Amino acid sequence: MRPLVDRYRPADRGALYDICLRTGDLGADAGPLHTDPGLLGDVYLGPYLELEPGLAFVLRDGDGDDGAPLGYVVGTADTTAFEDACERHWWPPLRGRERAPRPGGADERLVRIIEDGVRTEARWLARFPAHLHINLLPAARGGGHGRALLTRLVTELAQQEVPGVHLEVDAANTGAVAFYRRTGFAPLEERPGSLVMARPLEDLR
Ligand SMILES: CC(C)(COP(=O)(O)OP(=O)(O)OC[C@H]1O[C@@H](n2cnc3c(N)ncnc32)[C@H](O)[C@@H]1OP(=O)(O)O)[C@@H](O)C(=O)NCCC(=O)NCCS
Repeated sequence: MRPLVDRYRPADRGALYDICLRTGDLGADAGPLHTDPGLLGDVYLGPYLELEPGLAFVLRDGDGDDGAPLGYVVGTADTTAFEDACERHWWPPLRGRERAPRPGGADERLVRIIEDGVRTEARWLARFPAHLHINLLPAARGGGHGRALLTRLVTELAQQEVPGVHLEVDAANTGAVAFYRRTGFAPLEERPGSLVMARPLEDLR
């Protein structure tokens, strides 16, 4: 049976956290890099599931409603409002937790993000206010499912009259950069070690 794109349900949360970790090292398993297996999801997945569940979509194994998640796309229509909401609701309880990440390790970078929060301040946010994250398990890649997930999200954003969407990708993740180019994104800004890409959504309205 073919995998299908479905809406996110709260019961998917644990499986999606697992996918986030298993694909978090430039598409490879980031599990060995982290002592705390939930931190990556707490930064790059959890706030979207909690604060923007209507923009979270799941690729399910083709077994109807009960199909296991094989991948997901999450996002927000308004990055600034989302970052404000994270500052009010998402980061504070995480900041209260006791942690002792290994100095220089992957967890330390994530703990710093949790402590500092995230602020995107760029003039192009007016044109590309939405942003997203997409991750598929290796076995689900290369069959058009990434495109299908992305199309579901950008169609939803366009229906909400969002003018454009951006994302940040590690410059070393050449496969993902190629995927985004093939799905309508173009480079917008080069940052140290990463690339911001963007896609206008007018053509989808
Ligand atoms: C990037 C990712 C979402 C792509 O999903 P996918 O299902 O493999 O991609 P699709 O099969 O839908 O491909 C869509 C198009 O992108 C191209 N593409 C996808 N992966 C590619 C790659 N590694 N190299 C070159 N082109 C690629 C396909 O050839 C296809 O082009 P076409 O439709 O014009 O023929 C998926 O590989 C993934 O989850 N990777 C690991 C996690 C990750 O890196 N996420 C992005 C973090 S910013």
